[in-house]
Amino acid sequence: MAIKLNKNFENIKQSYLFSEIAARVRKYSAENSNAKIIRLGIGDVTLPLTPTVISAMHKAVDEMANQSTFRGYAPEYGYDFIRSAVADYYKKFNVSLLANEVFVSDGAKSDIGNIVDIFGDNDIVIPDPVYPVYMDSNLMSGRKIKLILASEENDFLPMPDLLDGGSAVIYLCSPNNPTGAVYNREQLKVWVSYAVKSGSVIIFDSAYEAYIKGNYPHSIYEIEGAKSCAIEICSLSKTAGFTGTRCAWTVIPDELVIDGVKLNTRWARRQATKFNGVPYVIQRAAEAALTKQGQSESAELVKYYMNNARLISDVLKKKNIWYKGGICSPYIWLKCPNNMGSWEFFDYLLEKLQVVGTPGEGFGKGGEGYFRLTSFGSLEATLEAISRFDAKL
Ligand code: MLT
Repeated sequence: MAIKLNKNFENIKQSYLFSEIAARVRKYSAENSNAKIIRLGIGDVTLPLTPTVISAMHKAVDEMANQSTFRGYAPEYGYDFIRSAVADYYKKFNVSLLANEVFVSDGAKSDIGNIVDIFGDNDIVIPDPVYPVYMDSNLMSGRKIKLILASEENDFLPMPDLLDGGSAVIYLCSPNNPTGAVYNREQLKVWVSYAVKSGSVIIFDSAYEAYIKGNYPHSIYEIEGAKSCAIEICSLSKTAGFTGTRCAWTVIPDELVIDGVKLNTRWARRQATKFNGVPYVIQRAAEAALTKQGQSESAELVKYYMNNARLISDVLKKKNIWYKGGICSPYIWLKCPNNMGSWEFFDYLLEKLQVVGTPGEGFGKGGEGYFRLTSFGSLEATLEAISRFDAKL
């Protein structure tokens, strides 16, 4: 008898959104070798790591070259120095965490995908549209998913009134990828009190918190009661330019207990078996990124990208194209012109303007008719894309 495969994979799209885009762009480039393609699709940073981070990395590399300072396996949850540095980082949001509530990993994407392991067969609540990893990872595990529509009507911020009051694992992303919408304090209070009342767990993805301007919560733990119902996942990818360097964290407070079991202990058990820790050199780089100097250098990166976001927004305004985002988020979420479908607009932009973006439909059915542009390109590439939009859209 043939080996049985995980049939749940038949319920997900054949390829991951950003792999699909990369494949289409590769095909187009192969057929049009002179095309000067501008990539504003995947949210991948383009500025180099900052001086403070680089110097910490160099120092750590030198330590690895010397027998007295060499390190082998890193602790699977992160060295104490980085777990404490992350806990300290939260002080600026008036959130107090213990170092052992922080688990350091190689990426928010990995943690979001892996967190499914510690839950049983619950109802899963996912906003639509949203970062596709929430949906894909739960479908791979055969979970039942309830989508809550994020639309222009609710300002792309769905609230618990769309739910039936039963317990569920609820994914929230704020600032949202892809729409750029951000929950305010009152709205997050409603979510936290819903979770506490219904016995739900919120998985809060705060990967874009460094882009927030104004008085919005950066962490769900700024909301009273959240420690008893929420896991938070954050990353240095978009903040300090670590997309290629890889360092993120998951916070599971000690208070988060389900059926007498601490989720912190469960996740620790899962990580101990399946994860071998982030390399020492990278943890030192992450520690440097979280120092005062590191944070102020990262803020300059964010400023640069947000200038791109403003330039993209300006040209869309000029062209009377509806858009959102670009204020508390590096993403611009626009309505495809002339009622084009989102993949249709993707093809149009690629073929006529040689600009790559991300079709809204890739983030869920609710994204059909919308499109995402990232501000993570270089200023030069962004300006060139803008001049093409201006001339040809
Ligand atoms: C995105 O473009 O949505 C992100 O780059 C994906 C990710 O962070 O994994």
